[in-house]
Amino acid sequence: MTEELCFFNKSSLVIKAPKKSPLALRLVVLAFAMVCGVYICSICIKQISPHTTTANFMNIRVFDQPCNTSGIKPEDMPYVHFPNPETFSREECACNPVRDFAILSMQRSGSGWFETLLNSHINVSSNGEIFGSKARRANISAITQTLDKIYNLDWFSSASKNECNAAVGLKWMLNQGVLEHHEGIVEYFKKNGVHAIFLFRRNLLRRMISVMANSYDKSNKPLNGTHKSHVHSSTEAKVLAKYKPTINATTLMAELKHVDDRAARAIGYFKTTRHIVVYYEDVVKNPSKLREVQAFLGLPYRDLTSRQVKIHSGPLSNTVENWEDVQKLLEGTKYESFLRADY
Ligand SMILES: *[C@@H]1O[C@H](CO)[C@@H](O)[C@H](O)[C@H]1NC(C)=O
Ligand SMILES: *[C@@H]1O[C@H](CO)[C@@H](O)[C@H](O)[C@H]1NC(C)=O
Ligand SMILES: *[C@@H]1O[C@H](CO)[C@@H](O)[C@H](O)[C@H]1NC(C)=O
Ligand SMILES: *[C@@H]1O[C@H](CO)[C@@H](O)[C@H](O)[C@H]1NC(C)=O
Ligand SMILES: *[C@@H]1O[C@H](CO)[C@@H](O)[C@H](O)[C@H]1NC(C)=O
Repeated sequence: MTEELCFFNKSSLVIKAPKKSPLALRLVVLAFAMVCGVYICSICIKQISPHTTTANFMNIRVFDQPCNTSGIKPEDMPYVHFPNPETFSREECACNPVRDFAILSMQRSGSGWFETLLNSHINVSSNGEIFGSKARRANISAITQTLDKIYNLDWFSSASKNECNAAVGLKWMLNQGVLEHHEGIVEYFKKNGVHAIFLFRRNLLRRMISVMANSYDKSNKPLNGTHKSHVHSSTEAKVLAKYKPTINATTLMAELKHVDDRAARAIGYFKTTRHIVVYYEDVVKNPSKLREVQAFLGLPYRDLTSRQVKIHSGPLSNTVENWEDVQKLLEGTKYESFLRADY
């Protein structure tokens, strides 16, 4: 097919060259036809070659010895994988077991920070909010196709570390199709042994303030005209913390309850999958929480680090415009503790 195409181009050009033209012109036309032919052939070959090499490579791998799984506990077997990516070779790590995970969270709950911590582990690749794109979560087949690609290590993002990954995943907000398509996702998680890591924030009042401040930042951009959801210096954090939102007292209680219910619903849906629930506040207070997360993912233990700096620190009363109203509303309710908690 390639060959035919090349000859066709050449001959048609040669035929079209006027017969009575001077020799020089004929030579120019001939040279032009040859250059075109070579160029087209080289493109054809380039397009074909990656497929040929992948095919060869896969043939070799099919006849490879299966990985030795004697070191893996029988109860862990459904949760480990030996992916065979299409886009690269895992080389000497081909038989390192890989676990699939998803960080299920809500906006402004510390999941960005949590993900940078996990990604500071040499064997972890968490690829960010992949389902922020609507097309990828349009229906369950779009979702599972995307997950297949991520868990086969064929998804490339700034976080991907390739060969020697021991855990691969993404950050996934509940409002990015998780609740909407929960049945299909739970089925996929169970079938493929995906680890669900719920990351929630206990203090939903602090979360609400962060949501309001972040949306203010989106429209006003006090940091030299750029919107920043996360910052890396305390000067930037101070600029962003200057804005004090006014909380709508009419809807406050209902909104807190709504967010609370969504988290509980999500945990309920996924209770039959392998999962853990992590609270942002616990990770802040006690870094050994991260040890638990690493054990859950079967990772060799490492100290994890992040460069992110907290935006709203200090007592909550300084971060809200109408603090007294908020205080009056929450005193004596089950959300009362939100008023005093440090984080
Ligand atoms: C698998 O690995 C174990 C050690 O983890 C070793 O004792 C065993 O002989 C290996 N089995 C095969 C078939 O290579
Ligand atoms: C699912 O969504 C994708 C992306 O929007 C679309 O191309 C595909 O046709 C949809 N499939 C079904 C079964 O609806
Ligand atoms: C983690 O990554 C290192 C370096 O790439 C590699 O040598 C090691 O085998 C990996 N560990 C696991 C458990 O995959
Ligand atoms: C804004 O830009 C100026 C100069 O480009 C820089 O010195 C300053 O630190 C920036 N401020 C912030 C808040 O990023
Ligand atoms: C509070 O929310 C309600 C319902 O959305 C709205 O009608 C009302 O105007 C809001 N109040 C303030 C002060 O923004």
